[in-house]
Amino acid sequence: MRIGILNSGGDCPGLNAVIHGVVGAASTLGWEVVGFRDGFEGLLPPGDYMMLDPERTVGIMKLGGTILGTTNKGHFVAKVGEGNVAKVPDEIINKAKGTLRHLEIGALIVVGGDGSLTTGMQLCEAGIPVIGVPKTIDNDLSATAYTFGFDSAYSAVVDALDRLHTTAESHKRAMVLEVMGRHAGWIALYGGMAGGADVILLPEIPFQMEHVANAIRKRDAAGHHSTLVVVAEGARLEEGTLLTKGGGEAGEVRLGGVGDHVAKQIEKLTGKETRSCTLGHLQRGGAPTALDRILGMRFGVKAVHLIAEGKFGRMVSYQQYQVGDVAIEEAVNKLRLVSKDGDVVRAARSVGISFGDS
Ligand code: F6P
Repeated sequence: MRIGILNSGGDCPGLNAVIHGVVGAASTLGWEVVGFRDGFEGLLPPGDYMMLDPERTVGIMKLGGTILGTTNKGHFVAKVGEGNVAKVPDEIINKAKGTLRHLEIGALIVVGGDGSLTTGMQLCEAGIPVIGVPKTIDNDLSATAYTFGFDSAYSAVVDALDRLHTTAESHKRAMVLEVMGRHAGWIALYGGMAGGADVILLPEIPFQMEHVANAIRKRDAAGHHSTLVVVAEGARLEEGTLLTKGGGEAGEVRLGGVGDHVAKQIEKLTGKETRSCTLGHLQRGGAPTALDRILGMRFGVKAVHLIAEGKFGRMVSYQQYQVGDVAIEEAVNKLRLVSKDGDVVRAARSVGISFGDS
């Protein structure tokens, strides 16, 4: 048996742990593993790939990024603009099929977020035996309680807030930190709570600048002269606008700018000196946390076991501390968003964190 693996979309801490898990489990079964480079693009004839064996993957778990390379552009894009589904052309799918046939690959593991898994589902519908592995630092796939990469990403937010805290206090300023989180605000919420943010602005909870300003005024009146604000890049302005930096034609739009906007508004409304900072790809790069290494490895092992059971069209999923599986279509059609009335947000409100909505 020979199987293929590729990762697609943005990179994510823990991808190499998945590869490690896949290669380890496959070699135990006596299978060969072919790793395709640069996402689905590696499937285009004649195929851009490397053979993976335990010797090649020793020590990769601790590395950030992915040894296979990845892309969120190219011929196989299935999500465009603000997340609309696009059909991968039949001609491209047939080329991928040809490469897999030529290399005698019996099943393909696709490690990706909702866009890449949508592509994976289209390949599966076209007859390629696909297994999905969920990957996103945003942790926003509803079919899995946790995705690897999230823990590493929000740990970077906590580290940034710890640093911003000392400079904000020294200057009695408000500091705004813009973090990733396209549709869901999990990174902002967890990172903000663990990092001691006073205000957290999310895509799921519409905010008003007057409420944000009030939270800061109240803190000043109580003698707390610095304020930390975390805002997810996907949080919309009061009138519903999403701030973007272009893109969209060849993939999803690039988000960014809401942090600067919020900082300017805070200064205008409160007169308080305010600075903003965008964490950007610092929260996606670097070594995975221990949790993400374990999760990634377990996901990789499970993907191989699903192939052994012939359960194609399934995606590895983590529920109630167990690694199981769900239909890929179940995973891509529904995002897991932060609930305004959920337990985590309620806990944050109980300790005085403002979400800018009251
Ligand atoms: O989906 C993961 C993600 O990190 C988003 O949070 C962010 O909007 C996007 O990827 C950034 O992508 P790129 O690396 O193309 O700028």
